[in-house]
Amino acid sequence: MVSDMVGSYLKVCGRGDVGVGQMKSFTVGGKQLLVVNIDGNYYVVSNVCTHAGGDLSKGRLDGNVVECPRHHARFDVITGKVVSKPKVGFLRPDIKDLKVYQVKVVDDDVMAVVE
Ligand code: FES
Repeated sequence: MVSDMVGSYLKVCGRGDVGVGQMKSFTVGGKQLLVVNIDGNYYVVSNVCTHAGGDLSKGRLDGNVVECPRHHARFDVITGKVVSKPKVGFLRPDIKDLKVYQVKVVDDDVMAVVE
């Protein structure tokens, strides 16, 4: 068991806290995390939009893409990559990808390396 440890995992939530096709935010280790359940697989990314800090959990989830409620930037929650840039008037500013956290499920707990 110890050999597969990379960093230290903290419990983020229970498996039942986020249903299939849903997402929810949790604060763990001082970080705001977004847990997404896609077909029973859990992904954890930062819940804070890299554009201007929008709360992604209040946005829309479409498959593996989350859309920020503020200026509609879209991110792939599996890779963290920007899918489309924010829309601010006529501007489409470049933004950074979302931070992706390493996840594992142990019994009924969704755990992530929060650093
Ligand atoms: S804060 Fe998320 S798109 Fe602007």
